[in-house]
Amino acid sequence: MRAVLCTHHGMPEDLSLSEIPDPVVGDGQLLIDVHASSLNFPDVLMIQGKYQTQPPLPFSPGGELAGVVADIGAGVSGWNVGDRVFGGTGSGAFREKAVVPAGAMRRMPDQMDFATASGLSTTYGTSYYALKQRADLKPGETLLVTGAGGGVGIAAVELGVAMGAWVIAAASSDQKLELARAAGAAELINYGDGKLKDKVKVVTGGRGVDVIYDPVGGPMFDDCMRSIAWYGRVLVIGFANGEIPKLPTNLVLLKSCQVIGVFYGAWTAREPQGAAENMREIVAMCVSGKLRPSIGAIYPITKYAEALRCLMERRALGKVVLEIRP
Ligand SMILES: NC(=O)c1ccc[n+]([C@@H]2O[C@H](COP(=O)([O-])OP(=O)(O)OC[C@H]3O[C@@H](n4cnc5c(N)ncnc54)[C@H](OP(=O)(O)O)[C@@H]3O)[C@@H](O)[C@H]2O)c1
Repeated sequence: MRAVLCTHHGMPEDLSLSEIPDPVVGDGQLLIDVHASSLNFPDVLMIQGKYQTQPPLPFSPGGELAGVVADIGAGVSGWNVGDRVFGGTGSGAFREKAVVPAGAMRRMPDQMDFATASGLSTTYGTSYYALKQRADLKPGETLLVTGAGGGVGIAAVELGVAMGAWVIAAASSDQKLELARAAGAAELINYGDGKLKDKVKVVTGGRGVDVIYDPVGGPMFDDCMRSIAWYGRVLVIGFANGEIPKLPTNLVLLKSCQVIGVFYGAWTAREPQGAAENMREIVAMCVSGKLRPSIGAIYPITKYAEALRCLMERRALGKVVLEIRP
């Protein structure tokens, strides 16, 4: 089978598309014929050796997939060969066949295509956990999403709208903001000029925002802390900017706000039942049309470097998908 391989940490061009032996299913596992794998920012960090949890070398990048069950390991029940599944893998999805823990896979809805299903686990999983379990977002509250045209950002916009919040989408370009508008955002802020805080003040009439979802980090985080309302909640999602910001604790005191960490991967490992229930709700919202996952680009497996570059160079609009088999 063909697999995108990372044999040493580096840039997307340092990866290779190699022919390797097919994997064999083990106890508690499923063998999946992979059809599509969605990209996420952690893939970009992992190939550079910069992610918080690194697989041993060599490895295939790719934290989530959709495909068809091809073989079933001992001790696994509830699955048949031929079932269409999707789920998170952490890494290892950019390959034609993957062995995965059976518990990590979910059943694909009949009407959903592989590209769409391959992008549900990480972005919607993270954003729903952040807004539901961590922020306890309530209908009528204001929600500010930074990086709103990217993977987790656009999912947070859609979910915020579905949960009844008044969503302010913020991004660096009008093209990304148009995507957020289509996802239901009520207000759009282009922060390409570095004036996020001032613009939030205008759209909220000086009150600030109840919940802020920030996957960008860097200097943006300080603006988020200055934009939070009294008793607000700031969700620390990630640092796509590349810089881990310092927390101004004086603002935590002055706003009586909460700064809340979100580590979705660790939560799914600690509370698999809760994660499975969240994913059932996400799938139900997709089936009912409340969520409409947005795919910005689909690349064939041979173009893995271009696909990763799209995220690295801040060009991704919604999800970027690698089509493993046409
Ligand atoms: N906490 C968790 O459990 C969890 C789970 C998944 C992902 N994450 C994190 O969430 C962040 C976003 O992931 P994603 O998959 O949504 O990525 P993505 O699709 O590439 O979106 C990232 C967004 O960040 C903004 N950005 C600002 N500076 C950037 C830079 N130098 N390079 C790239 N993007 C930059 C961009 O929006 P603008 O151009 O509009 O600023 C971009 O749309 C990452 O830090 C990732 O590690 C966290």
